[in-house]
Amino acid sequence: MRFSAKWRDGLILFGFRLLSPVLPTATLRGVVGGGADRTPGPVAPATPVDRPGVGSVTLVGAGPGDPDLLTVAAVKALAAADVVLFDHLVGDGILDLAPPGAERMCVGKRSGRHSLPQEEINALIAQQALSGRRVVRLKGGDPMIFGRAGEEIDHLDALGIPVRVIPGITAALGCAASAGLSLTKRGVARAVTFVTAHGRDGERFEPDWARLASPDTTLAIYMGREQARAAGAGLCAAGLPADTPVLAVENGCRPDERRLRTTLGAMAVDGVAAGKGPTLLLIGDALAARGTGEAAEVCGAMAVEGR
Ligand SMILES: C[S@@+](CC[C@H](N)C(=O)[O-])C[C@H]1O[C@@H](n2cnc3c(N)ncnc32)[C@H](O)[C@@H]1O
Repeated sequence: MRFSAKWRDGLILFGFRLLSPVLPTATLRGVVGGGADRTPGPVAPATPVDRPGVGSVTLVGAGPGDPDLLTVAAVKALAAADVVLFDHLVGDGILDLAPPGAERMCVGKRSGRHSLPQEEINALIAQQALSGRRVVRLKGGDPMIFGRAGEEIDHLDALGIPVRVIPGITAALGCAASAGLSLTKRGVARAVTFVTAHGRDGERFEPDWARLASPDTTLAIYMGREQARAAGAGLCAAGLPADTPVLAVENGCRPDERRLRTTLGAMAVDGVAAGKGPTLLLIGDALAARGTGEAAEVCGAMAVEGR
């Protein structure tokens, strides 16, 4: 059965009032979602409000892989979890931080293969919380960066289920740190753009390369391995020099991390020779190889040219 947004909000508000008689109306107005025309109210409280009998949901960023890169808050949330719903991208050893008795459910997604549709994940998180459990929804990297956290938050908000977010280190920051390279650099890169080369549910999506081609910006392309050739060709066609450095990092911050160096022009022809692990493309002059110490394999046409 479908309700209009107004009806849906009315019903939720009604249910929420029954369950939370002590909450002032002003707070409720801030908590229940709505369209652009809703009466402006105070911003929803940053700290979730306890509701008797209802558990809680914490969206936790698991970082790029290494458990040492978790925040202290993430470790505490995992230690207090009754159930952990996790994605495939979560690194080894991180789930061990939940109590032995906590239930672990893999709801994860890999490129093009979804083990559970997003709507079912939303419903499962809500169902677990409504049964009174402390739910940790564990996502690779930062939950708010290409993690569909917004959809899960909207769903929980609509049901009045308390939700809190603990950020994580997103892949771009983890991979750059691992290579010892700065994404911004005075006089070289004054901006960083995070972009995905994937559309909804894994379908092909062509970013506007011309808009993204800026010589003093570092580009971090998530989910971009399959589109590496298109990215190279599109960015070169939009005016970026063919010798602009590209660093592809596969399995960043994990024991099997691989770094591959190429250039935009070479990537347009050869793509990147990464394997099946999660791979991030970092593009821009700030990614020029360090004078010393940076280990990176050379891939694509650069290898052919023997540079
Ligand atoms: C669905 S997005 C999730 C991003 C995640 N929320 C984050 O903040 O890093 C998945 C993409 O992130 C990138 N990614 C995630 N973890 C990575 C890692 N350890 N090494 C390299 N790339 C990674 C890859 O481009 C992968 O295809």
